[in-house]
Amino acid sequence: MKEQLKLRSQFHKIKLFPLLITAFVIFLLAIPYYINDYNNILSSSYDSNDNEFVTSPLSDNPAEMMQNMSCPHYKTALFIFSEMEDVNQRMLMRETLFGITDNIIPCMKQDTNLIYYKFFVRKINKVNVAIKRDFRSEQMEYYHDIVEIDVKNTDDWHQTLLEYAQSLQEKCITFDHLILMDVFSLINLKKIQDKILSSKIENRVITDTRKIVWGTFENNRTENMAVILGSSAIQPILDNTKYKLEYTSLISSLYLYYFNHTDSLIPGDLIFINDPISIVEWPNSIRSLYCVDCIVAMGHIYQEYEIRDLTKELNISTTLPCMARYDLRMYSKETQNKYRSNIAVVTSSFLYKDNCMMEAAPLSAKNKREYAERHGYAFVARSTEYAQQYYRKRSPVWGKVDAVEKILAYYEWIIWLDMDAFFTNRSYTIKQLFESLEKRVGGKKELEKMDFIVARPKGDNMINAGVFLMRNSDWTRDFLRNCVQSFYARAKSGMREQQAMRDCINTPKWTPNVLLLYRDDHTMNTFPDRFVRGDFIIHYAPELGCPADPVLKGLSKLKMLEEDPNFNVTLPF
Ligand SMILES: *[C@@H]1O[C@H](CO)[C@@H](O)[C@H](O)[C@H]1NC(C)=O
Ligand SMILES: *[C@@H]1O[C@H](CO)[C@@H](O)[C@H](O)[C@H]1NC(C)=O
Ligand SMILES: *[C@@H]1O[C@H](CO)[C@@H](O)[C@H](O)[C@H]1NC(C)=O
Ligand SMILES: *[C@@H]1O[C@H](CO)[C@@H](O)[C@H](O)[C@H]1NC(C)=O
Ligand SMILES: *[C@@H]1O[C@H](CO)[C@@H](O)[C@H](O)[C@H]1NC(C)=O
Ligand SMILES: *[C@@H]1O[C@H](CO)[C@@H](O)[C@H](O)[C@H]1NC(C)=O
Repeated sequence: MKEQLKLRSQFHKIKLFPLLITAFVIFLLAIPYYINDYNNILSSSYDSNDNEFVTSPLSDNPAEMMQNMSCPHYKTALFIFSEMEDVNQRMLMRETLFGITDNIIPCMKQDTNLIYYKFFVRKINKVNVAIKRDFRSEQMEYYHDIVEIDVKNTDDWHQTLLEYAQSLQEKCITFDHLILMDVFSLINLKKIQDKILSSKIENRVITDTRKIVWGTFENNRTENMAVILGSSAIQPILDNTKYKLEYTSLISSLYLYYFNHTDSLIPGDLIFINDPISIVEWPNSIRSLYCVDCIVAMGHIYQEYEIRDLTKELNISTTLPCMARYDLRMYSKETQNKYRSNIAVVTSSFLYKDNCMMEAAPLSAKNKREYAERHGYAFVARSTEYAQQYYRKRSPVWGKVDAVEKILAYYEWIIWLDMDAFFTNRSYTIKQLFESLEKRVGGKKELEKMDFIVARPKGDNMINAGVFLMRNSDWTRDFLRNCVQSFYARAKSGMREQQAMRDCINTPKWTPNVLLLYRDDHTMNTFPDRFVRGDFIIHYAPELGCPADPVLKGLSKLKMLEEDPNFNVTLPF
């Protein structure tokens, strides 16, 4: 079970009421503002999902924020370093800085020109297996913002991250400024950007803000606190690693060197700004802060409630990390949003305590994510709903139903794949699948009557719920809520979600809206010994034991097949 994440979601629930009140007050205060200036902007989206209330982070013209991904340039790159176990802390930061409370509307790419952010997680070999499980789930869910990295250079995060930043430029990802900090820090990005724009920092006029190295360098606790660098300051620092001191980071070492050799040219063209007024350590009390308005960054905040309080105190607003999150409303035909897909590929990222899928799960998730990316669908992996079945006294597999109920509201269709299923024909689109199903049921109109599409393979005595499609409709909500979820008592005594779904679709009330692909092994759910070239999805579902080995073997076969379409596939796939 994911203890940390569980606790986090409980926390959300407890705080929900005051949060809603606050949101409502903010909403009321904001009404005149919006009416005056931004009549037709999708601002202040407010919906009833318990962790998705967010005011639209920006009311600018979205086209101006839109990034051209072929060679993106960002205002700010933000690198946040952390240890593997800091899952909760990373979640809190996603929420505080970007308004991301979950991955139901995921950032598939960071495509606003405002920010490029990454969490860096120290790669370690020996780690508590429970921590590793939680981290692997997080990686599957937030793959776009996590980098697992070796911290080299006698454990200097700064040097490691500067090297990473420099290597980005080679990959054609550029930015004006870079901020380095740890996961127990807060920054006011807007203030930082405003100060840089004004070219006045700590009463100094800065001639070239691309050369600044702005931090607090005077004490030994600065390594984890924010440092703000101009993009042209990075290479000169990396060229002067010989000045690195043993007890402090490369950046602090160069500051100390510079401080002692003001007439020297190395690294003379950097503009060091030692600014203990704006970049401060949390002094454990607001009363000890010398100038709250001056603060752009604060470090060493270790309690979650203090992070939350200080976010308000320091007037930190969220930055839009991707266009998909520009409008967070639930899906409806009227509010269709060109930045967001109507189709989500959904899967489980929950790792059981036997750790059997630890290695295979991330690779299987990657197969689905790449498929989604290729066709512009959302990719949503969920684990918390599996973990929470512990409280519902049902088998974890029921997490699938809770997850689908949550996610479905934000999309027109979802396609579910179990962790041990993956795409084997990744050029085949959901649209093509629908076209082929239309032919089968006798036309578009007929398919429109269907809300739940699922296969019953040859020889199986019931549907196989490892792969299915569901339409966001009243029928589906009703079906899940009032039929599938209603087997509560039987679920407690061992009934699985697949049996509940079978019993439901066999009831006359529900049958008409179900497209049952009867004795169908090839449309969207193929067992490995029945694979035929061109099949869409393979599903291992071994009767007994762990599917990891066959899944890994299958993925490597797929790799060969994708490289060479004539590859001789031997069965089982
Ligand atoms: C993105 O940039 C590339 C290269 O500069 C250009 O060829 C392409 O048309 C641009 N795409 C959009 C959508 O602006
Ligand atoms: C703190 O910094 C001083 C130099 O300013 C250094 O001599 C000392 O070793 C450092 N202490 C620690 C614990 O790193
Ligand atoms: C800077 O100068 C002081 C005193 O002159 C000395 O103690 C210190 O070691 C020097 N530091 C560096 C990094 O050169
Ligand atoms: C808080 O931040 C917002 C936008 O980031 C700004 O408009 C407002 O003036 C700030 N308020 C204070 C008290 O600094
Ligand atoms: C994927 O499926 C389509 C439609 O069935 C088929 O035309 C195509 O050849 C398949 N692609 C591969 C790589 O098998
Ligand atoms: C594919 O492999 C099988 C078993 O190795 C072999 O019997 C068969 O002849 C091969 N087919 C082709 C087309 O190479």
